[in-house]
Parts: sequence; C-alpha cells; structure tokens
Amino acid sequence: MTMSNLSLYTVTALLILDAEGQRVLAKYYNPPHQTAPGTGIPADLGVGPGGPGMGGLTTLKEQKAFEKSVFEKIRRGGGEIHPLPPHIILTRTVVDLHFILVGPLSTSNELMLNQTLNAFFDAVNLLLRGSVEKRNVLEGLDMILLAADETVDDGIILETDAAAIASRVSRPKADTTDIVINEQTIMNAYTNFRDKFSQRIQQL
Ligand SMILES: *[C@@H]1O[C@H](CO)[C@@H](O)[C@H](O)[C@H]1NC(C)=O
Repeated sequence: MTMSNLSLYTVTALLILDAEGQRVLAKYYNPPHQTAPGTGIPADLGVGPGGPGMGGLTTLKEQKAFEKSVFEKIRRGGGEIHPLPPHIILTRTVVDLHFILVGPLSTSNELMLNQTLNAFFDAVNLLLRGSVEKRNVLEGLDMILLAADETVDDGIILETDAAAIASRVSRPKADTTDIVINEQTIMNAYTNFRDKFSQRIQQL
C-alpha cells in the first residue's frame, strides 16, 4: 500500500449547474500545503494533471469557461460519466439541476466518485426533504455548502454516507472559534485521513 493510492480519492471540483448551465454552486479544491507544484501533500497524494489545485481553474473566468465545457458535454447526453481530459465528470440530473463531480481522469476511481456524488446528492435530498430543485437549493444554499464541505475537503473525500453528512449539517455546531488551527493540526488531520483512507482502500 503506497501513499499514491490515495489519489483514487481526490476530487477537483463539485458543481451544481442549472438547466441553462448557469452556476448554482461551485467548489474548486486546493489540496493543503502545496508550496510548489509537485511537492508536499499533493505530491504524496499523487495528484497529477486534472487533480485538485490544478492550474487553469483558479480564476472566475477560467472556472466559468470550464463550467461551460462541462455543460456542453452533459447536454450532449451519453450517460452519467463523461471524460473531459484531463478530467472525468460524473453527473446526476434532477428536475432543473445537474449535480457534477469532477476528478482527475488518469487516477480516478469512477465508482468511488459516483458514490461520493450520490452521497452529496442524497444528503441534499434529505436536507431539502425530497424536493431538490433550483429554487430550494438557492434558498438553503448555506446548508448545502456545509453539506459539500462535509463531503469533500481540500479535494479529499471525507464521507460517502448521506445520512452522516446531512446529520452533521443539521446538528447545531459547537463553538469552535477558540480551536487554534495551525500547521500541526492540519498535519494531524491529514494523518487521520490517510489512515482512514488506507483502511477504506483495503476494504474495497
Ligand atoms: C452511479 O450512481 C447512480 C445512482 O445510484 C447509478 O444509477 C449509476 O448506475 C451509477 N453509475 C456508475 C457508473 O456506477
């Protein structure tokens, strides 16, 4: 089991586009501790072309152009999985919304990405009491953004259980303002993810 197997679990972006391709929600991920390309945790994770934090998806202009090409792909149909090199795109469409998960084409595990997309979608469905449509997503956007953060953090998949995601979002938050976040806590969190994910990989 080498560290690079963790690349199976990286996500580049999580998007919700409407029926016209307009952005309803967009999260683009940057892995932690990337001082220079190809170094640090991103290198450990094996994040290559198309992975989180990749160049070309950082400015709003670049992101909008990317979302346009994603929407073009989806609109042409052809199922739920669309290669868009160097990315792979998984989609789930409901009423007037497209739920989209983007990962690196070269290293992604489609089933894991699909499971993650479904978990996020199902959590949103729980939070919106079964009426997932643009109007309700916009109304509950704060909650939906929290659900996104409980699903994927820094491009790393945290949770694929919809009920767990939804319950963390709806539960009142403890006061966390006095927790000091420093390099050490981030490294500890990373070590915890790594252990959790190598366990998961072994269970696959
Ligand atoms: C992705 O998940 C959906 C919903 O469960 C399922 O219908 C679809 O077949 C899955 N696609 C793949 C490629 O696993």
